[in-house]
Amino acid sequence: MSRRILATCALPYANGPIHIGHIVEHVQGDIWVRAMRMAGHTVHFVCADDAHGTPIMLRAEREGITPEALIERSNTEHRADLHDFNIGYDHYSSTHTPVNQALTYRVYEALKAGGHIESRPVEQFYDPDKGMFLPDRFVKGECPKCHAKDQYGDSCEVCGKTYAPIDLIEPYSVISGVPPIRRESRHYFVKLADFEPMLRTWLAERRAAGALQVEVVNKLEEWFSDGLRSWDVSRDAPYFGFEIPDAPGKFFYVWLDAPIGYLAAFQELCARDHLSFAEFIESDAASVAGTEMVHFIGKDITYFHALFWPAMLHASGLRTPTAVNAHGFLTVEGAKMSKSRGTFINARTYLDHLDADYLRYYLATMLGPTLADLDLDLKAFEERVNSHLVGKWANIASRTAGFLHKHFDGRLVEKPDPIHLQRYQEALKVLSTCNSLYEARDFATAMRTFIGVADSINAWIAEQAPWKMVKDASQRNELHQVCSMAINLFRLLSAYLKPVVPSTVAKAETFLGVECRYFTDVQHPLYGHTLAPFKPLLTRIDPKKIKAMLMASRASMKASSAAGQPPATATIDSGSNPSATTGNAVSNGEMPTICIDDFTKLDLRVAKVVVCEAVEGSTKLLRFELDAGELGRRQIFSGIKAAYPKPKDLVGKNVIFIANLAPRKMRFGLSEGMILSAGSGGADLFLLGVDDAASAGMAVK
Ligand code: MSP
Ligand code: ZN
Repeated sequence: MSRRILATCALPYANGPIHIGHIVEHVQGDIWVRAMRMAGHTVHFVCADDAHGTPIMLRAEREGITPEALIERSNTEHRADLHDFNIGYDHYSSTHTPVNQALTYRVYEALKAGGHIESRPVEQFYDPDKGMFLPDRFVKGECPKCHAKDQYGDSCEVCGKTYAPIDLIEPYSVISGVPPIRRESRHYFVKLADFEPMLRTWLAERRAAGALQVEVVNKLEEWFSDGLRSWDVSRDAPYFGFEIPDAPGKFFYVWLDAPIGYLAAFQELCARDHLSFAEFIESDAASVAGTEMVHFIGKDITYFHALFWPAMLHASGLRTPTAVNAHGFLTVEGAKMSKSRGTFINARTYLDHLDADYLRYYLATMLGPTLADLDLDLKAFEERVNSHLVGKWANIASRTAGFLHKHFDGRLVEKPDPIHLQRYQEALKVLSTCNSLYEARDFATAMRTFIGVADSINAWIAEQAPWKMVKDASQRNELHQVCSMAINLFRLLSAYLKPVVPSTVAKAETFLGVECRYFTDVQHPLYGHTLAPFKPLLTRIDPKKIKAMLMASRASMKASSAAGQPPATATIDSGSNPSATTGNAVSNGEMPTICIDDFTKLDLRVAKVVVCEAVEGSTKLLRFELDAGELGRRQIFSGIKAAYPKPKDLVGKNVIFIANLAPRKMRFGLSEGMILSAGSGGADLFLLGVDDAASAGMAVK
């Protein structure tokens, strides 16, 4: 039966860039959504930025911009990062929207009307210099237990003790450095204990349905037995968030309106796509109507999602989550991501060096349905992608497609050989188990199953040895049968790989000349079908690129910490437009001296423009195809449209380009280098030329 599901991932904070830890979650959600859709279900997939809170307010202040400008910029960056990781959100919003404000007020009014809000004075640390109350993480001091210096206000990183900021010895404000004073202020609380019976029922139902992981169930039991304490949902001004309607100068704590952001994002999607918000959300009987709400989260935010969130929804007469799926944390090279080691890798830094699908595949092989942490072992990453995707999967097509094109006009046999058909049925039977593995989020087992089948197909091809058959004219028909079946098996594998590496499989589909939308599309092999020419689907990971990524990562962390700021990704200009020559480069100013070795690292080449055209959907970009002589053809996107409104005129011209710039996946395709031009940007850009006698591929020295 076809299901109707609203799926979400946790909302990333808007005060910093998306990093590969976040990517684990978005990839998990995205693979699941894609697989569920291929299984025939309807899934609406939404996310948003979590735009409120003290860190965002302070960071904006430090940058000398408004919080609104900061969250706007982050939103553009986050969308681009997630898009380029092939995460297919139907809608990506922000919690700082009128829709979310209205829903937040609605939830608050319902809590109040139900008698679940209480207020009382709270004593807290206050920074007299800065004029604001200090969140726990903004107070540091000496640990009351082990006396380690410079520990945060909530827990000691040395001895592990947790405490209140007030317990710190010689506390100081992280913002101004002055000792904070104690000050009283009235706070608003949600009486969580009111919801214990409801939460216990919710838990029991979900547990019976297998919709909560055992680890989560155990945690909830533990929290119940500790007793549910009231939840402080107000913060004093200055704060960036929604002001509490009946309490001027007080704001909702970011965690109150953040999960409501799931609903707001969905409501916006409903308005855009004419879906029924009410059917999914308006009543907890929605589950009866057959709709589901499924959250993907990291294990660190379970409390918010499995206690506060169902309680808030219930109090408001809204539907509670069908499932809350928690995952573990990503480590890199066996340790917590580290800025100094370069293993704190931003999504954009990764994308600057490597294809998104590589990491998606590796993560899929590591992700199971439990809360276990997963490690990015860079050697294993390189080897697994190269061996599995290039050496096993793509290899099946690359070693057989040539024979079909050369001897059979790229056409598959008209009628199958029954023996081969049986092979197909067997492979299909094994691979169909991936259906439920995907659904159960056991991607690691799904990938093992996939590789097992790929191995047996490769073994069969080796046994058949089409490269021997081709030498014997009497075996023409058998050669045709074997290669046709190999391509059909490749298509079958591709279907089951598609949720994991969608853009790579899209290339395979171009070659196959058919798209696979549902798993059932591959129930039967193709016959009498013509293939498109085979082009390599993906290249092996070059370990140099991994190294370069780590170096770039370390450098970007250094640069941003030198500026006293949390790590930042490239700005949008350079981020989405690698070929723009100036944009935000050091303007006018002289650049530091370099040595000749720095220069020779650049592989500058002459190339002839073969194709040049405007890119639909982009106001800045032109798409070039270059003849680069011995380097072959290159596609490059360059942000010079304003300067060259008639792209056709450039065809036949010689240009200079950087040939060894790491290829970069853009919204519109792969950009394989950078074309050089001079000028300040916009319409003021002039392509660098070369004397007529120069030919394509010549090195510029
Ligand atoms: N803004 C809150 C979530 C609000 S949801 C209503 C938040 N943001 S976060 O940016 O800190 O984290 C977003 C998600 O990324 C969380 O689910 C978190 O667990 C996950 N991860 C952050 N670092 C991670 C790893 N290193 N590994 C895996 N997931 C990680 O929490
Ligand atoms: Zn301590």
